[in-house]
Amino acid sequence: MEVADSIAALGQWRESAPGRLGVVPTMGALHDGHLSLARRARAECDRVVVTIFVNPAQFGPHEDLAAYPRDLPRDFELLRREATDLVFTPTEPMIYPRGFSSWVSVEQLSDRWEGVSRPGHFRGVATVVLKLLNLVGAQRAYFGEKDYQQLRVVERLVRDLNVPTTIVPCPTVREPDGLAMSSRNAYLSAPDRGAAPVLWRGLSAARDAYRAGERDGDTLARSIREVIEREPRARVDYVGVADPATLEPVKRIEHAAVCLVAAWLAKVRLIDNLVLAPAQEEPTP
Ligand code: PAJ
Repeated sequence: MEVADSIAALGQWRESAPGRLGVVPTMGALHDGHLSLARRARAECDRVVVTIFVNPAQFGPHEDLAAYPRDLPRDFELLRREATDLVFTPTEPMIYPRGFSSWVSVEQLSDRWEGVSRPGHFRGVATVVLKLLNLVGAQRAYFGEKDYQQLRVVERLVRDLNVPTTIVPCPTVREPDGLAMSSRNAYLSAPDRGAAPVLWRGLSAARDAYRAGERDGDTLARSIREVIEREPRARVDYVGVADPATLEPVKRIEHAAVCLVAAWLAKVRLIDNLVLAPAQEEPTP
């Protein structure tokens, strides 16, 4: 495994790396969710690049940028075991040099849900993802469904701006108790970690109701909210039942829908989601 810590080093490596290239953009502090993306890329591509860059542009002024977990030696070791070919670790001035002033906004899709709670977040995500895709020039890029809205934003970005990279969505990897893996789980106190699976339990309640025939978006959203609100350690940020393509709230589910949740446990904000679809179309975990 090689490490490229500059854009020039990445360019040099690319010249010596023939075949189909896959990229997995990350912010590091890797866990099994990230590694599942790297594994999928390994299975489908000749060369695998993982990028690690904690992107300041996608953090709000009062968010956890400074405290975001960083452990490059550990990340390298984990990626070595997944037979990653190259890790790209640019610094902030490489990605945002002095005078940087071009930003990408994906309209509509960025407006709701995370966009309301984290203004400017998707502008930062879209900009850095476009840069990383341009720099790496991979045929395929792997993104997790865990960040459902981000995935939709990236798909739209690539389509609208003719980026020649195929976006590959990958299923959410969970802890045995249902908690979606996240770098932020490391911040949870023991009691909050114990309470955190309540997001998944809320989503599971909606899935059960959907399977029993419930198709009203508000009713399903209420069932999720009720489960989460019964946990005194959790504070709901938003709960929504939305169209999987547009992310607009759905009143009545005609075909499929995605349940989106965000909740606070103390100072840690967690997100999760679940697609409701007729049984034969449900994503396999
Ligand atoms: P990060 O949170 O590090 O996540 C990197 C990738 O791993 C994303 O595509 C995310 O959806 C995926 N991922 C995270 N947890 C997952 C899980 N439990 N199961 C499956 N996939 C999971 O998302 C970002 O970084 C950044 O916004 C980035 C796209 C790198 C742009 O800065």
